[in-house]
Amino acid sequence: MKLQPVRGTKDYLGTEAEVQEYVISMAQQIASCYNYQQLTLPIFEFSDVFHRTLGETSDIVSKETYTFLDRDNTSITLRPEFTAGVVRSIISNGLTQSLPLKFFSSGPIFRYERPQKGRYRQFQQINCEFFGSKEHNSDVEVIALAHQILSWLGLSEFIRLEINSLGDPESRKSYRDKVFEYFSKFENELSEDSKVRLHKNPLRILDSKDPADIKLKAGAPKMLDSFNQGSQDYFSAVLKGLDELGIKYVVNNNIVRGLDYYTHTVFEFITDELGSQGTVLGGGRYDGLVELMGGPSIPAIGFAAGVERLAEMIIAKDLFKKRNLIFALIPIGEKAEVEALKLSKLLRDKGFKVELDYERNTSKRFKRADKINAKAAIIFGDDELNQGVYKIKELASGEETTTHKAEIIEAVRELLLKS
Ligand code: HAM
Repeated sequence: MKLQPVRGTKDYLGTEAEVQEYVISMAQQIASCYNYQQLTLPIFEFSDVFHRTLGETSDIVSKETYTFLDRDNTSITLRPEFTAGVVRSIISNGLTQSLPLKFFSSGPIFRYERPQKGRYRQFQQINCEFFGSKEHNSDVEVIALAHQILSWLGLSEFIRLEINSLGDPESRKSYRDKVFEYFSKFENELSEDSKVRLHKNPLRILDSKDPADIKLKAGAPKMLDSFNQGSQDYFSAVLKGLDELGIKYVVNNNIVRGLDYYTHTVFEFITDELGSQGTVLGGGRYDGLVELMGGPSIPAIGFAAGVERLAEMIIAKDLFKKRNLIFALIPIGEKAEVEALKLSKLLRDKGFKVELDYERNTSKRFKRADKINAKAAIIFGDDELNQGVYKIKELASGEETTTHKAEIIEAVRELLLKS
């Protein structure tokens, strides 16, 4: 018997496991602010759910799925992503008439990839999907959600957003023809994988990390030049919306994504901190997928992020302690104890997380606040109460401020938004 985990899988103990849970629960809380519902799906589906949708030439389908025959000879596949499963679910639950729909899911994903740092055969994703809007502002909102999750995890400064558009199917086809024509001239110089891609899905060559392909890619035709007016306008409107929200991005025309279902907007959040596996989050619009899977024509957009990659960064940058959404109340004295009960109710009624320890010992209360990684302690004794104020101490930085009682909700909200 081999007493070690299977290649590409890992046991996560202690901090690593805790940070992964933290990433998932943070993402879920933020998604619920955008009104995403929780959706829990089976870990395996009939193989067609993935094989007929993600693209026969995508690496995932051609060589990475865990597919096996069940005892009754039906072909089953362990999910290599959420999106196709979510679409299957809204069709099989008859939800396609109840638009818009927004779903958050999380859990294990399986891909038979060559394992290396940041790339595993079993890993976890957090996944958001938004069905039923063809308005550019829905793209902006989905990207803003992804951005907020990463920024609340404290990762903003280590990550950049790269964005591209694949245009509508007509623009994409015209671009595909140009790319085919271009790479055909260099067929013998392409990597072995790209020789196959050239005839099945030439756009995937643009996504290649092979040095031979990278050199040839430099002279390839630019996607945006093949766009019809509608596709150009759509992309410009998405970028304008991001500008309006102050979300920074870089347009990168080589982003085509590894799955075939995308149209229009595609995006990735990338870091230089994780070596070659630097994409922590990826997504895009997939307006044709619901119909392809037998449902009505429903526009959709979404993204997924790799939980292990995010957790690795949070641990490497020592960010786990710095971000938590709990406020610890630290009353000092009899009057303050009563005030603390009232304040905890006020804050909890507004949806904030509050810890009020009934141990009447200030230093123990501070220790407890540290232990639970509270974002800040709200401190008040007789002096503060007489002046009508609270002291707020941010636990990561030690910074202290004073806030008028009437402004506490605003002050707490501002602290949460600070990345
Ligand atoms: P994806 O780009 O294939 O997109 O995966 C999303 C994220 O999962 C990646 O950015 C990466 O962080 C993580 N990931 C992928 N493969 C591995 C691996 N082998 N080990 C560790 N982490 C990995 C999708 O899955 C699409 N379904 C996203 C989407 C949702 N598009 C629209 N809606």
